[in-house]
Amino acid sequence: MKGFNTRAIHVGEIVDKRFGNVVTPIFQDSTFIHPNDDPNAYLDSNSGEPFLYTRVGNPTVNSLEMKYASLEDAKFGISFSSGMATISTTLLSLIKKGSRILSINQLYGQTYRLFLDLIKKHGIEVDFVSVNEINSLDINKRYDMMYVESVTNPTLQVIDLIELGKYCKERDINLIVDATFASPFNQRPLEYGADVSLHSGTKYISGHSDVVIGLLSTNDEEIRDKVFNGRKVYGGSPDPLSAYLALRGLKTLGLRMERHNKNAMELAKFLSDSEKVRKVYYPGLPDFEYHEIAKKVLKGYGGMVSFEPKGGFECAKKIMKSLTLAVPAPSLGGVETLVTLPRETSHASLSSEELRRMGIPEGLIRVSVGIEDIEDLIEDFKQAISC
Ligand SMILES: Cc1ncc(COP(=O)(O)O)c(C=O)c1O
Repeated sequence: MKGFNTRAIHVGEIVDKRFGNVVTPIFQDSTFIHPNDDPNAYLDSNSGEPFLYTRVGNPTVNSLEMKYASLEDAKFGISFSSGMATISTTLLSLIKKGSRILSINQLYGQTYRLFLDLIKKHGIEVDFVSVNEINSLDINKRYDMMYVESVTNPTLQVIDLIELGKYCKERDINLIVDATFASPFNQRPLEYGADVSLHSGTKYISGHSDVVIGLLSTNDEEIRDKVFNGRKVYGGSPDPLSAYLALRGLKTLGLRMERHNKNAMELAKFLSDSEKVRKVYYPGLPDFEYHEIAKKVLKGYGGMVSFEPKGGFECAKKIMKSLTLAVPAPSLGGVETLVTLPRETSHASLSSEELRRMGIPEGLIRVSVGIEDIEDLIEDFKQAISC
């Protein structure tokens, strides 16, 4: 098999010698000639049929799906109009009446809300436990599905996917992993026995903070068929332009992730050495609680770093205002460094007590470390952390 970057550039591209194009075109079509009985008709890799209607499948979208599947070392890839469309379509396509799901309590907020909706409106049983409980396999009920985020937001706890993958395989439990924070460059959950790996492609996969998209990979044909049909009826297909932007983003994923991994490690070390910082959360730091697990399940420690200034919440707000290069915005995974205060954004609806219970300090700053020159980034944080 060719290397990650070679596949990122060449797999899935639609190159047609009649035009001599080098780059996959944006097929901005809602519909296609039907029936298409040309014996050389190009077939959608998921349906095995010529293209018909873009909600069902589209050449640019399918090109993205094939490239992404290759990078996940997966047989099948499906893309969606957002990370949330990926998650909701997957869950709605795979759950059954009476399904019992186990998940973690430090989930992305909208995913958590979706689970609460499933519980309320459809009577699906969902339990939430801590990452430590999952990692110690302290599970005393029978579940049909487990849903985890492999590196959590915002305190970067790391799931031991090797152990969890084995546990689920032995018990025939569907394991679904949101690996958005790791990206397919740093982690490929299917390797550890996950049935589905999924991503908010809005983040590292696209990489330029200019598109909202989602992706999923699986080696299981039955799951692929269910979710592919689910996308058709729930309607969360991506538009061709977004698919094109994600396709282009994927070509530099390897290069960008190497730089994100390196910059984040250096920034984390700088922050750990600062007298004004109480704690740094980064899977690559040897004294971080989840470092030993991270070493086993991550090929790089990623671009996300969180830290708590000694001066608490008020000081954190001052730091946010004083940063000149790092941009205050809640997303992540782009080439530019973004900073956010979870207490004011993703976790704004939680009380101080709830934040404390979830182990999220009020003054926590989450940094999505970009690919700028690290000296400039460190300089920016050095001048901003003055309280
Ligand atoms: C871990 C994680 N999963 C899923 C999502 C949802 O993705 P999207 O915003 O593309 O719908 C996000 C968004 O921030 C996320 O951080």
